[in-house]
Amino acid sequence: MASEKVLANKYHGGKSYTPMSPRDWEECWMHGKTFFHKPYVHPQLIKYENELISGRRGIRIFLPLCGKSLDIQFLRSKGHKIVGVEFAEMPIRTFLEEHSIEYEVADMPSIEGQVFKALDGSLKIYQCDIFKFDASAEDLFDAVWDRGAFGAINHHQREQYVDLLKMILKPDSKILLNTFNYDQREYSGPPHCLLDEDIQQLFGDFFTIENCEPLDEMNDAKRMRGMTRFLQETRLLCLRLMPFSNMHRLKKCEQNSQLF
Ligand SMILES: C[S@@+](CC[C@H](N)C(=O)[O-])C[C@H]1O[C@@H](n2cnc3c(N)ncnc32)[C@H](O)[C@@H]1O
Repeated sequence: MASEKVLANKYHGGKSYTPMSPRDWEECWMHGKTFFHKPYVHPQLIKYENELISGRRGIRIFLPLCGKSLDIQFLRSKGHKIVGVEFAEMPIRTFLEEHSIEYEVADMPSIEGQVFKALDGSLKIYQCDIFKFDASAEDLFDAVWDRGAFGAINHHQREQYVDLLKMILKPDSKILLNTFNYDQREYSGPPHCLLDEDIQQLFGDFFTIENCEPLDEMNDAKRMRGMTRFLQETRLLCLRLMPFSNMHRLKKCEQNSQLF
């Protein structure tokens, strides 16, 4: 694992950067500093949904670091089975209440958290640190919508996060990855910046990578902060090589689907 100094040099032109812990994020929720939460469904999800789900209905979609995003409800309303992970309890409860979803909660000491389950079986949200989430407790997924998750993961945990994504996906499944691209000497995040070379290095061995149309998000506020570039980028990744260590999970999934 690279030291923080090496990471600061690589990503921030030598400026120090302070990693954020899940507790720091929880504090943001507690104090209403939720600049990242949008009161609408993400336009790139709407635009590329069909590519993500490959025209299927009722598939299993994973939403890491889901907050109380309206994207959860958007995908759920289309009949997909949604599993999210979120550290802060408050947005999970608020989401379920705002959408009048009947649910039950169970403690899960193994992940130092809880699981919130919609009674109709359409949604499960694990309240835990994503790095404590037990992927083996869930069947494999057909798709992942990552909006704001990669951007929130600290640099030193990126590889661990990608390993998790590889472990939860079926072959040929897709990740729709929404990230930001800016000059890291001008701003140190979050959201953290992800460059083409980072994506290639992190995903290139296992996934095909297709660039979707980027959105230019420069505005006066960012210019005033001295920023010269701020792009929102979306990529469609397709798992073409499943990690060998994960093959037995695929067999289990196939057996389960024959039972129903
Ligand atoms: C940038 S927000 C994105 C939220 C959501 N995806 C959206 O589009 O609104 C990041 C979210 O991840 C949660 N989070 C941060 N670090 C986490 C971790 N290690 N494990 C689980 N959740 C985490 C934060 O509480 C926050 O809700």
